[in-house]
Amino acid sequence: MKVTFYQLEMYFCLYFVLGMLSSKGCSCANHLLEQIVTFAGGNVILPCSLKIPDNGDMPTVEWSKEGLKPNVVFLYRNGFETFEMKNPAFEFRTSLFMREVKNGNVSLRISNVRISDEGIYQCLIIQRNGTREAKEMQLVVGMSASV
Ligand SMILES: *[C@@H]1O[C@H](CO)[C@@H](O)[C@H](O)[C@H]1NC(C)=O
Ligand SMILES: *[C@@H]1O[C@H](CO)[C@@H](O)[C@H](O)[C@H]1NC(C)=O
Repeated sequence: MKVTFYQLEMYFCLYFVLGMLSSKGCSCANHLLEQIVTFAGGNVILPCSLKIPDNGDMPTVEWSKEGLKPNVVFLYRNGFETFEMKNPAFEFRTSLFMREVKNGNVSLRISNVRISDEGIYQCLIIQRNGTREAKEMQLVVGMSASV
């Protein structure tokens, strides 16, 4: 059995997360990130939802990936996708489910998943009144079964 670079990287991430939790003095041992597992070449949905304010104002939704520069993989602002800050590696590969957005479902679809997509993603919601809320999750990408 050989240990691949990606396995090493995964372990590194895990230690990093554990380290962050313990350095914050978090005693909640089960408080690991939600993991989403997929295969290279497929599509995946990273879940995120929010509460639409009573006045119907759509918040800004910023999906980012930890360690990526620029780190934005999808930015939704004023009711539209905004491309200016998007990382080129995710060009044409990320989208929201536009029919679901008005219900507060801002889950991100990544298509044609690459091994390099593996990592920690953050869904950041910025309400018009300035309230910010973030959710993080870890994407784990396995080798495609057909390779
Ligand atoms: C901002 O709006 C959100 C969504 O409607 C609400 O939950 C929150 O309490 C508001 N915060 C402030 C500071 O008004
Ligand atoms: C959000 O939409 C996606 C795509 O339709 C769906 O798979 C997912 O279950 C939805 N999430 C919620 C919380 O409704």
